[in-house]
Amino acid sequence: MRKFLIAGNWKMNLGREESLKLARSLVHTLPPDTHAQVAVIPTLAHLDTVTDAISGSPIALGAQNVSSEKKGAFTGEVSAAMLKEFGVKFVLVGHSERRHILGESDSFLNKKVHAVINEGLAVILCVGELLEEREKNKTNDVVGRQLELGLAGVTAAAVEKGLLVVAYEPVWAIGTGRTATKDQAQEVHAFIRQRLAAQFGAASAAGVRIQYGGSAKKSNAQELLAQPDIDGLLVGGASLLADEFVGIVQAAAAAKPGC
Ligand code: PGA
Repeated sequence: MRKFLIAGNWKMNLGREESLKLARSLVHTLPPDTHAQVAVIPTLAHLDTVTDAISGSPIALGAQNVSSEKKGAFTGEVSAAMLKEFGVKFVLVGHSERRHILGESDSFLNKKVHAVINEGLAVILCVGELLEEREKNKTNDVVGRQLELGLAGVTAAAVEKGLLVVAYEPVWAIGTGRTATKDQAQEVHAFIRQRLAAQFGAASAAGVRIQYGGSAKKSNAQELLAQPDIDGLLVGGASLLADEFVGIVQAAAAAKPGC
């Protein structure tokens, strides 16, 4: 049985004091048996503050970005080994804001995927189509290509160690208030699992958690999480409000009892 992963991507929204306040509030308000693995993903600049605030709690730490390189003259970059020193467990790679605003290509993202996995950290590879791609029925082509190129060279052994999470984030649903319907999301999640099965074998693919992201919130979390191939949520805007985020985590308990 796959354990839900509910992760809050704080993006570049919170300063140090705000990050500290939100982290402390989650530590105090999240129920001890959360039914889901919970992670917070602050900006790189505040990893140290947040790692201290959540220390001793079940909340895991994630990072929003990583260098594709191991070490050396790469001004402004932070390596996977450095993230590990902060206690990071999950690293986002391929978020649509990095693909579309910063122009990160699939081959560049593939190097980041390997950098993360080689350090023994779990990668959350984000995939998703633009609105015009969906309207032209290209969703599976786009997502299939992002998976194929992004995961090139990744081994079933790494997947079996739990080092791969996939997040399906339709770009048209991110920060727009427009959520994919549960059926739209499930359809793409099932397709993703099929592609993972083709690359890693059915048994390994069955263990991979596939998160949905894109205007996820307390009011839609339960119906999304009740879908057979939706194993968690990657939450942006709603993760900045403790009450909303805790509500999402609580929704996980009701979505698939026994999960
Ligand atoms: P959103 O962002 O929840 O604000 O739509 C999701 C994400 O970008 O991961």
